[in-house]
Formats: sequence, structure tokens, C-alpha cells
Amino acid sequence: MPERTGTDARNGNNRGVTTIHDTSFRGFASDNYAGIHPEVLAAITAANGGHQIAYGEDDYTARLGEVIRAEFGEQAEVFPVFNGTGANVVSLTALLPRWGSVVATTTAHIHTDEGGAPEKVAGLKLFVVPTPDGKLTPELLATEAWGMDDEHRAEPAAVSITQTTELGTLYTPAEVRAIADAAHAHGLAVHMDGARIWNAAVASGRSPAEIAAPVDSASVCFSKGLGAPVGSAVVGSAEFVAVARRNRKLFGGGMRQAGIIAAGALHALRNHVERLADDHRNARRLAEGLRSTRLLCFDPEAVETNIVIAKTTGSAAAPEIVEKLAETGVLCAALDDRTVRFVTHLDVDSEAVDAAISAADPVLS
Ligand SMILES: Cc1ncc(COP(=O)(O)O)c(C=O)c1O
Repeated sequence: MPERTGTDARNGNNRGVTTIHDTSFRGFASDNYAGIHPEVLAAITAANGGHQIAYGEDDYTARLGEVIRAEFGEQAEVFPVFNGTGANVVSLTALLPRWGSVVATTTAHIHTDEGGAPEKVAGLKLFVVPTPDGKLTPELLATEAWGMDDEHRAEPAAVSITQTTELGTLYTPAEVRAIADAAHAHGLAVHMDGARIWNAAVASGRSPAEIAAPVDSASVCFSKGLGAPVGSAVVGSAEFVAVARRNRKLFGGGMRQAGIIAAGALHALRNHVERLADDHRNARRLAEGLRSTRLLCFDPEAVETNIVIAKTTGSAAAPEIVEKLAETGVLCAALDDRTVRFVTHLDVDSEAVDAAISAADPVLS
């Protein structure tokens, strides 16, 4: 097994870690780095033993479907996939004709972080529009929602919004409704990348059913602040799910022992959703603690969930600042030359936040 010696400045993982498993490794680069919660691991272990009925025909997968249906509404069909990228790819492929395209923001995960999977694997074109806060609006959508009957253009046939956004901002119900109404009026379907939909639920006090009511499909994730090692799910109408499920198999995402993953997801959903409020508090605490530094500008009032966005204020570029912080053990990520992102999750409690503030302050001041 290769040793981990990564020097990926973008993710702040440049400490030259040379052990295979460094238990002191903690960071704010992403909630994807949160380790598996011990109780989730125990739930997975407890689900093992005896035969497992394959390909999601088992009781745990059925139960997970029931739990998610209870959250999204009885009309929602559900099936699990390995990860968020897979969930987005199979969903968008199910929503689009072969010649279709998807309108999203420039910060959308499907655009910046999925290795081009929607385009390369699914063959979908993305039209992306810049936004100040990661949120699409009907006006921004209109800049790309045109040329439906023009065979020379990849027909805009769906819009993808992320809730919460990649910048940690939250769409209000009215904003989601306005985009969905505008998209539907143009004949576009609406997909919600809900990798952090439970962060949105906790921050807004609304159920996933309310949050996703106007959209046609959603992907959700169990492996961020919820403590599962892997796992996402696709939610939508029975008709949509029948097609998306076929796509999962086609793209190599068929899940043999799906029950094991479902058992972990079930525990995570039952026990770790409310604790996301701690992550939101900790994100605000981090931004408040570093509010006035020389190199980075934090805006605590703008922190809505577990993601803190800081802008560079001087000539030092974001990757350079990320490198400097990593040397002190504070791991964060550069989103672009001027933007640094910190994410809180179940591996970093309020003491870890305070320690990070103390370590980062001298570097940034
Ligand atoms: C908003 C969003 N969507 C989708 C994904 C993809 O998830 P995965 O890494 O499980 O493919 C992520 C992962 O960080 C994400 O942040």
C-alpha cells in the first residue's frame, strides 16, 4: 500500500504525512474528510453476518428507502448509490434527452469537482453561469435557457441547483420555487444536488420534503457531516427513478451488498442530523475568531451553514495562504486564487476550532 505523501496545496494536504493512518489528521478542507463515526461502523458490523441478499433487495436498503420517503414524502421513490457524483450523473442522465444540456452555476460541484463526469461519462453539456453567492436565480437561468428548438444548440433541458450551495449559502423556499417555476416555464426539469440537504434542513428548520418540493429530482449524501463512510441516494418520482436506476447499473454503480451501506446510512440519519447544528455554530465561531486578519477577510454574518468562505485581501494568493496555514496544522482549501474555504464537520469540535483560530491568527495577521 502506498504511503500518503500528498502535496495537494488546493486541499491543504501538504504536511508530507508518511504514515498510512495518521489519527491526528484533522482539518477544515472538507466535510468529506470526516472519519466514519464509531457508532456507524458498529451499525455496519452489526448488519453483517449470514447471507446478504444482493443488489439492494435486502431489508436494510428497504428500510433506508422508507426513512428517506418519510422525509421527502410518500410519493418519492428512492434508491442508493455509492456517492454524490454517481447520484448526480444518473439523475441528470435520466432527466435529459441525448442532445440535452444542464444549466448550473460556475461553482456547481457537477462543474468543478466531479472530474467532468456529467460531461465525460454521461455526455451532457453544462452551461454554467457565474453567481456572487453560488445561487442561481430566474434571471441568471434566463441567460442560458434559450434556443430550445435550435438544433445547433445543446438544448437546455434541465437546471441543477445545489442545496446548500458549494459556498455554504442556503436557498430560501421562495428562491427554489422561483427557479423551479422559471425552469418549468422554459420546459426544463429541475435537479437538486442535495449533498448537504440535511444541513439545509437543520439551518432552516424545514423538512427535506419542503426544501425539495418544487424540484423533479434530488441527490442526497450520508457521508458528509453525518458520519457514514460512503453512500448517497437518488430521490424522485417513480417514473424518474425507474430510468435513473437503470443508469446506475449502466454506469457501473450497481451495489452488490447495498445493505451494509444502508445500515450505516440509517444509523447516521437517525442519530447525526441534529448535530449538524454544532457544525454550523462552529463555522460561525471560526469566522468570528478570525474576523479581522491582514491576509483574509471573513464575514461571520454571511456564514449560514458549515462552510466558511474567506476572501484574500492583499497580494498573497489563496493557494499560498492555504500552504502557510497547513504548516501550522490548519487545513483548508483554495477554491480559486482569491477564495479560501473552511468546512466544519463531526471531526472538528469547538475546541478544535479554538485551536485552529490560535494557530491561524499569527499566520494571517
Ligand atoms: C455539493 C456536492 N455535490 C456532490 C458531491 C459529490 O460527492 P462524492 O464525493 O460522494 O461523489 C459533493 C462532495 O463533496 C458535494 O460537495
